[in-house]
Amino acid sequence: MTRFVYATSTTLDGFLADPDNSLDWLFAVEGGEESIAGMAPFIAGVGVMVEGSTTYRWVLDHERLLERPEKWQEFYGERPTYVFSSHPDLPLVPGADIRVVSGPVGEHLPAIRETAAGKDVWVVGGGDLAGQFFDAGALDELHLSVASVTLGSGAPLLPRRIESDTLRLTSVGQTGQFVSLRYAIRRPG
Ligand SMILES: NC(=O)c1ccc[n+]([C@@H]2O[C@H](COP(=O)([O-])OP(=O)(O)OC[C@H]3O[C@@H](n4cnc5c(N)ncnc54)[C@H](OP(=O)(O)O)[C@@H]3O)[C@@H](O)[C@H]2O)c1
Repeated sequence: MTRFVYATSTTLDGFLADPDNSLDWLFAVEGGEESIAGMAPFIAGVGVMVEGSTTYRWVLDHERLLERPEKWQEFYGERPTYVFSSHPDLPLVPGADIRVVSGPVGEHLPAIRETAAGKDVWVVGGGDLAGQFFDAGALDELHLSVASVTLGSGAPLLPRRIESDTLRLTSVGQTGQFVSLRYAIRRPG
């Protein structure tokens, strides 16, 4: 059964990126490569990725994917990616299955589920988009890799109020200077 999983790295104080959308602070943390390698079993079960336009543009720019589009497949394989954006003219990585969509997440859930075909949906971020999936009742799990760093400000991890009766801590681990935390999201009833 398809699960919608918000899997991301975060700072101790709950930021995904600094105010300039930089991740340089993340790459400086010991154990980053091992932490990413540890995601392999999760990624193997992913059928679809969803992300907001800032996250997509960061990957596009950081990896210079318009100049070397083959890198997209190296990272993500053939998985379709839904990019949420109000800009339908967003530059697309040639050869990649990228679907630009906009509007309420709930309207896109049937198509996303169908595309996932029983595999998981990786909600890559940002935090508000993950929150929109939560609001739509469609977020099943959080997989957080918490880096030993604070930023004080930046792009928020999950700007929603989600109380302890809804979150169930299911596993804890350590890789270098990262703590991995997994939560199941419980729904009333
Ligand atoms: N630490 C990590 O592992 C990690 C993981 C993920 C992301 N990040 C970083 O964190 C930052 C996140 O950026 P962000 O907070 O701006 O979030 P984002 O979700 O990447 O982008 C937000 C943008 O997506 C579009 N959008 C979102 N929901 C939409 C909807 N329902 N319909 C239409 N468009 C929608 C809007 O832009 P437009 O309509 O203007 O296109 C919105 O401003 C980025 O710098 C990213 O690189 C880090």
